[in-house]
Order: sequence, then C-alpha cells, then structure tokens
Amino acid sequence: MNPESAVALVTGGATRVGKAISLALAARKAAVAIHYRSSDREAREVAELITQSGGQVHCFQADLTDPAQIDSLVPSVIDQFGKLNVLINSASVYVQGGLETTTRADWEQNMTVHAWVPFRLSQMMIAALGDAPGKVININDTKLVKPNRFAYGVSKASLAAITRTLAAAVGPNVQVNQVALGAILPPSGLAEDRVAAIARTVPAQRWGHPDDVTSAIINLIESDYISAETIHIDGGSNGTLG
Ligand SMILES: NC(=O)c1ccc[n+]([C@@H]2O[C@H](COP(=O)([O-])OP(=O)(O)OC[C@H]3O[C@@H](n4cnc5c(N)ncnc54)[C@H](OP(=O)(O)O)[C@@H]3O)[C@@H](O)[C@H]2O)c1
Repeated sequence: MNPESAVALVTGGATRVGKAISLALAARKAAVAIHYRSSDREAREVAELITQSGGQVHCFQADLTDPAQIDSLVPSVIDQFGKLNVLINSASVYVQGGLETTTRADWEQNMTVHAWVPFRLSQMMIAALGDAPGKVININDTKLVKPNRFAYGVSKASLAAITRTLAAAVGPNVQVNQVALGAILPPSGLAEDRVAAIARTVPAQRWGHPDDVTSAIINLIESDYISAETIHIDGGSNGTLG
C-alpha cells in the first residue's frame, strides 16, 4: 500500500512513541486519525503540526476501557474520513505488578487495552474494508519473548497471539504484523542512572529512537507480502531474553 492512500488510526497517537508514529505517517502523506484518552492538549499540538505541513488529521477521544467508546472509535473515523485502512494499535498501560501484587483490576485493564481493543478495532476495520486493502500493525514489547510482568506481560503475549491468529483469519488484501519494542523512550521520571543502566543491558549499548520504530512501520505499510510477522526493534535485546 502506498502510504499516500492510507487513512491511519493511531491509538495513543498523541504522545511519545504514538506521537512519532502519527507524525511519520503524516510525513508520508497518510491522513491521520489521532486517538487519545486524556492527552487532549498534546493531541491538538500534534494535529496542528500536521495541519501546518499540509496534512489531513483529526483527533478522536476515547477511553479504551469503556466498551461503548471502543465500539464507536472506528465508525467515528470512517464518518470523518470516508474510510479507514491502516490501524496502529499503540495505546498501552504499564503496570509493574508481580506475583503477589497483581490485582484483578490490573488484569482486566491490561487485557482490555492490549488484547481486546486491538482485536475489536481490527475486527471493526476489517468488516468495513470489504475487499479493500488494509494493514493492522500492533505495537508490542520485545519482552513478549520472556514476559516479566503478569498483567502487562501476559496481555502483550496475548497481543502476539492475536497478531498471528488475525493474520491467518483475514482475506488476502489485509496484512497483520507487530513491532516489538525494546528500550525506545524511558518512562517519565526514570532516574538517569537507571536509564544508563538499561542501555548497558542492550547488545547495541544504547536506547533506540522513535525513528527506528516509524521506519519499520512505514515498511510494513508499503509491503503487501509480509504478514503474521514480528519485527523486534530492540538493539538485539530479544536474543538475550529468550
Ligand atoms: N516506550 C518504550 O520504550 C516502549 C518499550 C516497549 C514497548 N513499548 C510499546 O510501545 C507502545 C507505545 O509506548 P509508549 O511508551 O509511547 O506508551 P505510553 O506512553 O505508555 O502510552 C501511550 C498512550 O496510551 C494511551 N492509553 C493508556 N490507557 C488508555 C486507555 N484506557 N484508553 C485510551 N488510551 C489509553 C495514553 O493516552 P493518553 O495520554 O491520551 O491518556 C498514552 O498516551 C506501547 O504499546 C508500549 O507497550 C514502548
């Protein structure tokens, strides 16, 4: 698919990695639907940058733990743009919970945001596509090869299963892939010595850059013959985790 013919929905598209994806898609002349939950100001700022450079963009607010708001997102994007053919599932929650501390609420939130939502939005986009071409790209975590958190890790492992199951279920015009990120952007507030210590654990000996992620996503949109694939963007970390 030529990115110029894409209408792309980016969940969590207003901040951090999602923001970089929104901007990179707009730079390749895709129309961008920026989804956000609470980052209203950030979403408007990203939209303004895209508008100023001549791009097409709209923002869509939805709490992706609310079933009604999940189900209204794809129809809202299609109402606005006339179609939706690229879905980037990036919205995420990062729960630290271990064996003793993981709660049912953590479990439900993570399984909803990382598993049900990417599936449900894909299901709705694919139904609306008919025979038209489409792409689903799930943003996963390289630690899915060896989950180290319960609600987060198990839900991201579920996302990997969804990626492959969906890729097998769709028609020939839809490709479904995932990118599995390592250390790209540190969580806000992480101490500098921890940031440096994490870099030392990466075979590449440094953090990645959002451009590493966006270039892989553009390649996946452009390819009509890659599906059910995982691209680890992690400086080689998946080789040391497995
Ligand atoms: N950053 C990294 O180095 C790294 C490493 C490994 C994997 N990843 C993966 O890459 C993706 C992006 O990472 P990130 O660090 O940029 O993400 P992030 O900052 O943790 O979260 C991205 C967005 O998710 C949205 N979100 C969270 N809960 C939501 C809900 N209930 N409903 C709707 N939206 C919700 C938030 O939107 P609002 O701000 O609008 O509320 C937030 O801006 C994630 O899937 C993450 O797992 C990132």
